[in-house]
Amino acid sequence: MSSLRQDLQTAWGKRKLSASVTALRMFHGPGESTHSSGKELAIDRFQNHFWITAWKPIEKSALDEVIQFLKDQSASSNDSSAVFIERGETQLSVPLFGSPPSERFEVREGNLIARIQLVETRQPGLFLDHAPLRTWLQQNAKGWKVLNTFAYTGSLSVACGLGGADSVLSLDLSKPSLEWAKENWLANSLPGERADFIYGDYFDWLPKFAKQGRKFDAVILDPPSFSRGSKKSGSKEFSTAKDLEKLHVLALSVLNSGGYLITSINSANVSWKKFEAEIQNAAKELKVRLQVLRKIELPETFPAQTFEDAYLKGFIFRMS
Ligand SMILES: C[S@@+](CC[C@H](N)C(=O)[O-])C[C@H]1O[C@@H](n2cnc3c(N)ncnc32)[C@H](O)[C@@H]1O
Repeated sequence: MSSLRQDLQTAWGKRKLSASVTALRMFHGPGESTHSSGKELAIDRFQNHFWITAWKPIEKSALDEVIQFLKDQSASSNDSSAVFIERGETQLSVPLFGSPPSERFEVREGNLIARIQLVETRQPGLFLDHAPLRTWLQQNAKGWKVLNTFAYTGSLSVACGLGGADSVLSLDLSKPSLEWAKENWLANSLPGERADFIYGDYFDWLPKFAKQGRKFDAVILDPPSFSRGSKKSGSKEFSTAKDLEKLHVLALSVLNSGGYLITSINSANVSWKKFEAEIQNAAKELKVRLQVLRKIELPETFPAQTFEDAYLKGFIFRMS
């Protein structure tokens, strides 16, 4: 057995899909392979369909091996399929084998339902690394008035809704993502009157909310590492390497005393120490205190071997 096939086999042995969990990272190459192509690959499973990511160009023979492995695993299911995206090379996912569903379909993460898109998209709509945060929100959001910024398809909004939040406002700079977020809210049979969706730039809306004296019991931030800004939408350039303090001053300015700041970044180049220090600087600027309740880290299905591999960093703070 080649080492890549062996790595895939070992990873498969560690995960189990069930009726209540139909979305899972099955293989996380950076922490589960030493094979030159294997360590550049990740495989996510959504029902019987696979989303394969390559972070660098990989050998054709390695991709063929992955395809054969997946076909062997799904031998009993004739509706299995896979799509592939090579970051930096292909802009959108391309079919690899089988017939990936052309329409969005539902997966389950416990009580939470998410609608997944596999074809012609940059992302399938659900970031599996945030599964632990979604669980925590479902356990803790009761009665909260939530602002979910950088909401994307609203999986964290849905988690708050399922957790009994009084209201959830989802903000994003992408209209299609917000439409998707509405679909997800409805797919979970959550009441429409508890949700609001706002299109626009974080750096425009947060100062507006602060000026209006609008406050929330929880503010969630999960920005991209870098945004070029756009003339079309009037959005500004920012990066998590430079602008963490600025981002958090805005978040804290709309948070109620006793409220929760739930913040994460996907930046291998920002250390935990710098991340926390910048947030504490923001707190000092606003003369509030923040206490760390817990860290947000990669789940077990995303094993990391190096500092760079552990890209997801986050904190849940309580403000006083
Ligand atoms: C990493 S995704 C967030 C993922 C989401 N928290 C989740 O768990 O599904 C980043 C999102 O930020 C949005 N975004 C980028 N720049 C923005 C800005 N200046 N204001 C508001 N949203 C922005 C993007 O459209 C994208 O949907």
